[in-house]
Amino acid sequence: MPETLSTAERRRRWREAALPSLRGVVLDLGAGSGVAADHLAPEVEWLALEPRRRTDPALSERLGRRTTARLLIAPAELIPLESEAVDAVIASTVLCSVRKPARALAEIRRVLRPGGKLVFFEHVAADRRTWTSALQAVYSPLSRLIDHGCDPHRRTGELITAAGFADVVMQRSEAPGVLGTVEPLIDGTAIR
Ligand SMILES: C[S@@+](CC[C@H](N)C(=O)[O-])C[C@H]1O[C@@H](n2cnc3c(N)ncnc32)[C@H](O)[C@@H]1O
Repeated sequence: MPETLSTAERRRRWREAALPSLRGVVLDLGAGSGVAADHLAPEVEWLALEPRRRTDPALSERLGRRTTARLLIAPAELIPLESEAVDAVIASTVLCSVRKPARALAEIRRVLRPGGKLVFFEHVAADRRTWTSALQAVYSPLSRLIDHGCDPHRRTGELITAAGFADVVMQRSEAPGVLGTVEPLIDGTAIR
């Protein structure tokens, strides 16, 4: 029987597997507490992006602990970097929250150097015409209102596939969701 793991545990395991191999300049979109930085190699230049000036105090601590790190205050839809400026982008449970995910993905492609890599872990909409998808559609407006814009009914996997990357590798998994439903998850990489 497959292991029943929470979203948080799956995300923790994904961080451990996906982040230590990143090198060069790494942009962490919607960095939150900056927990991703704990898994980055020390020589990585970490750019933590958050849309608002008021950030999690843990983010400042983590920024202070690294040799090369910078905070960018901007939305993912308008990244304040030159084109082809970064080697990798981390998107961990953030594309659910941005206002314009297709716009954010276009910005990710723009700032990645050719051959650069987006690594992602996101919760997504359930398959169409399922009970979970119907429920997600119903509670999406409430979730967006009370949970920092988070949309549980967003088809982020389809958006990543359609964003024009050269190569996308994606896998799906599930975690326990609300009201006895499952929460569909995706993780993977997209190469510019
Ligand atoms: C669920 S948290 C994830 C934090 C972190 N990436 C992690 O894996 O723990 C979502 C983050 O996305 C940020 N966010 C929301 N809208 C955003 C936007 N338009 N552009 C960039 N970040 C955004 C929030 O401020 C928050 O820190």
